[in-house]
Amino acid sequence: MSEEEIIQSSEAQIAVHWKEEEYIYPSAQFIAQANMTEPHVYERFSLECFPECFKEYADMLTWYQYWHTTLDTSDAPCWKWFVGGRINVCFNCVDRHLPRNKNKAAILYVPEPEDEPHVALTYQELYVRVNEFAALLKEFAEIKAGDRITIHMPMVPELPITMLACARLGAIHSVVFGGFSGKACGERIADSGSRVLVTMDGYYRNGKLLEHKEKADTALEVAQEKGQAVDKVLVWSRYRGKYVSKAPMVKDRDYLVGDLLKDYVGKRVDPVSVPAEAPLFLMYTSGTTGSPKGCQHSTGGYLAYVTGTSKYVQDIHPEDVYWCMADIGWITGHSYIVYGPLALAATSVMYEGVPTYPDVGRPWRIAEQLDVNIFHTAPTTIRMLRKAGPDEPQKYNYHFKHMTTVGEPIEPEVWQWYYQAVGKGEAVIVDTWWQTETGGFLCSTMPAIEPMKAGSAGPGVPGVHPVIYDEDGNEVEAGSAKAGNICIRNPWPGAFQTIWGDRERYVSTYYAKYCKNKGSKDWRDWPYFTGDGAVQSQDGYFRILGRVDDVINVAGHRLGTKELESASLTVQEVAEAAVVPLADELKGRIPDMYVSLKPGYEAGQEIEGKVVKAIETIIGKMARPKHVYVVPDMPKTRSGKIMRRVLAAISNTMDIGDVTTLANPEIVEEIRKMVQGEGVVATKEGSEDLKHFGEEG
Ligand code: PRX
Repeated sequence: MSEEEIIQSSEAQIAVHWKEEEYIYPSAQFIAQANMTEPHVYERFSLECFPECFKEYADMLTWYQYWHTTLDTSDAPCWKWFVGGRINVCFNCVDRHLPRNKNKAAILYVPEPEDEPHVALTYQELYVRVNEFAALLKEFAEIKAGDRITIHMPMVPELPITMLACARLGAIHSVVFGGFSGKACGERIADSGSRVLVTMDGYYRNGKLLEHKEKADTALEVAQEKGQAVDKVLVWSRYRGKYVSKAPMVKDRDYLVGDLLKDYVGKRVDPVSVPAEAPLFLMYTSGTTGSPKGCQHSTGGYLAYVTGTSKYVQDIHPEDVYWCMADIGWITGHSYIVYGPLALAATSVMYEGVPTYPDVGRPWRIAEQLDVNIFHTAPTTIRMLRKAGPDEPQKYNYHFKHMTTVGEPIEPEVWQWYYQAVGKGEAVIVDTWWQTETGGFLCSTMPAIEPMKAGSAGPGVPGVHPVIYDEDGNEVEAGSAKAGNICIRNPWPGAFQTIWGDRERYVSTYYAKYCKNKGSKDWRDWPYFTGDGAVQSQDGYFRILGRVDDVINVAGHRLGTKELESASLTVQEVAEAAVVPLADELKGRIPDMYVSLKPGYEAGQEIEGKVVKAIETIIGKMARPKHVYVVPDMPKTRSGKIMRRVLAAISNTMDIGDVTTLANPEIVEEIRKMVQGEGVVATKEGSEDLKHFGEEG
């Protein structure tokens, strides 16, 4: 498909012209086995039954002490769930399954090299390995409840082992996506105040054994500059007993976990009982301005929510083989590879590498070999697999009952391929819309209750009550075909508790916009602002249009414009930088960077290279811009604000609109020619997020 077609068929342009897709119904076979088939589940989870309805999810867990207050709003809008309850997440995901399921695979690990054997970790083995590592953390690293630990690891079983060991001790983990640079990791270490970093020597990606440990050295330097000393770096090995990194081990700071574990063989550590509202983990995500924010997730509320939604929306049964192809370094992996599935005693598959290695049949081969029956991935991956191997799935003998899409809007034609080719017309699809902040799903169809509609996430999941507001806070009616800001009327147990160390930013970013009374302790006065645009059709299904703020969703990864721009500004020659989203056939959106230079410097490829390099080192390779344009000046308002909207229109060949009121209107045509070439190029109908990009603030 050409870029033009992509832009035209993109989700986000809809508003008034949105064509309704046909309903597709789940099979009788699926319904017959589904965990949740009662349409009246929505009544049980109605606002009248709120917040007590969520007892149903909390009761899926094993508590040391039952709670006395389901929802405490006294510190609004920092909500506390299941107050008075005491619980341990590791006990719920591991220990409690031993009596009945100790011999069952908890994790099926697929290394990227196809000649390396799969690893099946039973619940008993997971129990042993988590205990030994927890003992090491407790005794050697002196970790106790409430301490933060940064984990910078790839997709290996030692990653969930490390997370569960932290949870066993009541320590707060902060997992940084393995693809992030050492610098990005260091900033997160500093912000979270971690004095221990857990990392790995190397891992496979696209056929190459990548160096990873060297990032720890940069991370520690950066953390130190920001005033945070790390006293221990614990390094897991990709191959037991070997060290595959070239980075030297620093004496009295870096330790090979394999060596240390010899002293902890057979050790057991009692799970620490923590209050339900104790933080379980931090997950950093990008926002409109400033540095990434550490979303602080709770213990009891979070686990209850991901367990309940894994059971009802993911339809996970203990006998299922469930494969979510996300990375555990993102929220999807936390909630729907590790915590939700393991709390349900499921078998969760983990794959180390890229889906197209060594060829585009790999995912389907894995599905066939492991007899996966629930599959979960993102539109970017679906688009990529469709483009590279549209007929591949049919060559393999696997059968999915259920498939998930997450992270970005999915184009109806891509959805159709997912349904027909990947799902072989047999599997239900849930399009789950949610965010790092929300811990678990916000909108999705209930797979056995409602029909699917390509490109629509569906209604709010039980207990989540979304509403669309216009800029003035008026409700936008379902079926009005008008887009607006999608918000959630009520709190839910999976919602993050605050931004680590920055409550003010938490309140102003997520709750200030539509707050009805800032002094109120009533949750009804505090709708949650998601930062996404949406339309709701007559049937109540929501269609998500993309971000309304300055966040670019690249292949389902959130990048803040400010982060990208400040990285470019570290290049000595660069005076100003402005980044905009470019519609991309595979990745949905991709950054396009515009820079202007300080006086006395010449434009040239060298500068473009420097900007790309700076972004890769400061953020990571996934943030690499498609183009770097060195422009003579930025289009600016008379007050000096860079008009990112104009640049976004140029990058995406959209209508630039009226620019006569700018301080330097002539520059617009100059930049347009530079990007689009000489002559007039027909403009395309752009999508909502592209049209309004950069208008906020
Ligand atoms: O814009 C929405 C988009 O991804 C954003 C959240 O990104 P992140 O915090 O990285 O979490 C991704 C995984 C949950 C949202 O604000 N998004 C997420 N899911 C969907 C989506 N857009 C459309 N459809 C979805 N299903």
